[in-house]
Amino acid sequence: MVAAITVIPGDGIGQEVIPAAQAVLAALDLPLVFQQAEAGFGTFEYWGDALPSETLAMCAASDAVLFGATSSPMTKVAGYHSPILSLRRHFDLFANLRPTVGNGIDLLIVRENTEGLYSGRERLEDGGATAIAERVITARASARIVRLACEYASQRRGRLTLVHKANVLKETCGLFRQVGLDVASEYPDLIVEEMLVDAAAMRLVFNPVRFDVIVTTNLFGDILSDLAAGLTGGLGVAPSANIGTGRPALFEPVHGSAPDIAGQGVADPRAAILSAAMLLDFLGHTDEARTVRRVTYDTPHTGGTERTCQAIIDRL
Ligand code: IPM
Ligand code: MG
Repeated sequence: MVAAITVIPGDGIGQEVIPAAQAVLAALDLPLVFQQAEAGFGTFEYWGDALPSETLAMCAASDAVLFGATSSPMTKVAGYHSPILSLRRHFDLFANLRPTVGNGIDLLIVRENTEGLYSGRERLEDGGATAIAERVITARASARIVRLACEYASQRRGRLTLVHKANVLKETCGLFRQVGLDVASEYPDLIVEEMLVDAAAMRLVFNPVRFDVIVTTNLFGDILSDLAAGLTGGLGVAPSANIGTGRPALFEPVHGSAPDIAGQGVADPRAAILSAAMLLDFLGHTDEARTVRRVTYDTPHTGGTERTCQAIIDRL
């Protein structure tokens, strides 16, 4: 079966690292067909839409999406919505899988991807003097993300850490915690622990090798996954998968569009290539995924995107 892959380089270094990841996939001689699509801030400036309906339709007709990065402004721009957040929500890609490997560390952050402080429910009151964000946590989304994390932990070293802040956020984190512990109790073979997010941040720095699978809510997962990436060489080697219950799934490096180095051909392509390896796993090409991963972790980034990419292809 030929798999259709929609490739969305996006903004900034996405334009450099995604072609590199595509080149690695193409070098494997697998039944994959690629189609290019547009999204991002550049697309918004040109077309007035950060995620054109053509792009969405191409993604909907694909088995997988390879996504680079998009630049999101720090302030509100009328009509602009972050394409990655729209894609996650549109395809109900409820799980964000973020592995960190290296320096003896082998952990997986399973981040809830559809709600929490990313609900988009923000408003101003008091004539602008008070800003309010609604943090939405549902039993349904909490249960499905913790269940998936339990499944991964069962395939790995059998330890699950449920990260929350229920001592302060008694309702939202309280619900996530209670549902999470209930679901996890269905997995008697797992070692299940809970940890407050601040303590988890410290222990990730002090003793990262103790962690196997961490499951947490959206914003905590966003922050902890960058922290975890920083333990093993940074965002240059941090891949991620956004998965739901079917197809498409979406694969993207954790890093952003890095406008400071964009256009220079120096971006590290390995996070994008490792994301492509996660894509291969998703499509069932597990041997190739393993090979790409091994070679990529063994290849240093010497400063040129194309040179690093070529070195990986040569060793495949
Ligand atoms: C990530 C990014 C995104 C997020 C941004 C670009 C919207 O930081 O994937 O970690 O916050 O989820
Ligand atoms: Mg992030």
